[in-house]
Amino acid sequence: MDESFVALIFQDEELVLLDQRFLPTRVEYVHCKGYKDVEFAIRDMVVRGAPAIGASAAYGVYLAAKEHDGEAVFLSALEFLANARPTAVNLAWAIKRMKGVWQEHKESGRDNLLAALLREADEIRAEDIRANKEMSRIGSRVVPHGATILTHCNTGALATAGWGTALGVIKQAHWEGKEIFVYADETRPRLQGARLTAWELVEAKIPAKLIADSAAATLIRDGRIDLVILGGDRVAANGDVANKLGTFALSVIAKAYGVPFYSVVPVSTIDFAIPDGSHIPIEERDKSEVTHVGETQVAPSEIGVYNPAFDVTPHQNITGIITERGIIYPPFGENIERLRRGETL
Ligand code: MRU
Repeated sequence: MDESFVALIFQDEELVLLDQRFLPTRVEYVHCKGYKDVEFAIRDMVVRGAPAIGASAAYGVYLAAKEHDGEAVFLSALEFLANARPTAVNLAWAIKRMKGVWQEHKESGRDNLLAALLREADEIRAEDIRANKEMSRIGSRVVPHGATILTHCNTGALATAGWGTALGVIKQAHWEGKEIFVYADETRPRLQGARLTAWELVEAKIPAKLIADSAAATLIRDGRIDLVILGGDRVAANGDVANKLGTFALSVIAKAYGVPFYSVVPVSTIDFAIPDGSHIPIEERDKSEVTHVGETQVAPSEIGVYNPAFDVTPHQNITGIITERGIIYPPFGENIERLRRGETL
């Protein structure tokens, strides 16, 4: 059940990333030798998807510690990494966790410190894969036999350290023989659905069709979608979910037509510190992502562009949030607090 590709791997003291800017037409790898390479790879979306960003940043912290012995310069390298992309909390979460290990081992000698940091980065990566497999098993329970599923953006092996979140649930249901069918939104402007999810669906041999984002409303209204399953980049303490631009609109339509709507995230994507989605910083990206499709310009250079990469779905529109520790149902605030206290749902 494992894929033939991985988004990230650490070998020979380099973070090797499958370059997601060019898939599926070009399969190339980027070798990050230092933390600045990792920061660039995250910012330019060589690697993307909340958990994959987190795991990459963890190796970035290890590389920063190798490059900088001095405390002040190391800490400013961490700050630099943390600012690569603002919305997915996994980035800050992984850096904070690595910083904790650095604090604990910084007086224990350089070799010990570096070994401890590398161990932790490996563990963050391994934990993410384990969490994805677990949430997929849990999430598959909400997928009825013969279901037609709508998904958005890319939430598979490419978006994580391996396997996937929402696409993990979909793959699990497929491998359980549930005879599912998937509609994948192309996901303008970066086309993660068309370029990445479609590629993963083809690789996994899951029956699927790619649709323009604006076709989803008609499919939902016409009763052709049984459930919507997608990912999340940051979940607030009240259950509001920031995810790829377009998620909010899908949630409104799904709610209007009574279609169950699930977000699938590891617990590392929950930001227990923010009360609701209005506190989530939403990344705005370069205008060229909208004026161009790939290398081809499709709009006049002079036009102004608004290009938020994410939007926030209010918890009222969400049926459940699937995690590796169970499914969070309403009341979300209460149940997220139970999760924070370490209870299993
Ligand atoms: O801009 P991206 O491609 O990093 O956005 C990715 C998403 O929005 C995903 O849905 C989310 O990170 C979950 S990935 C398991």
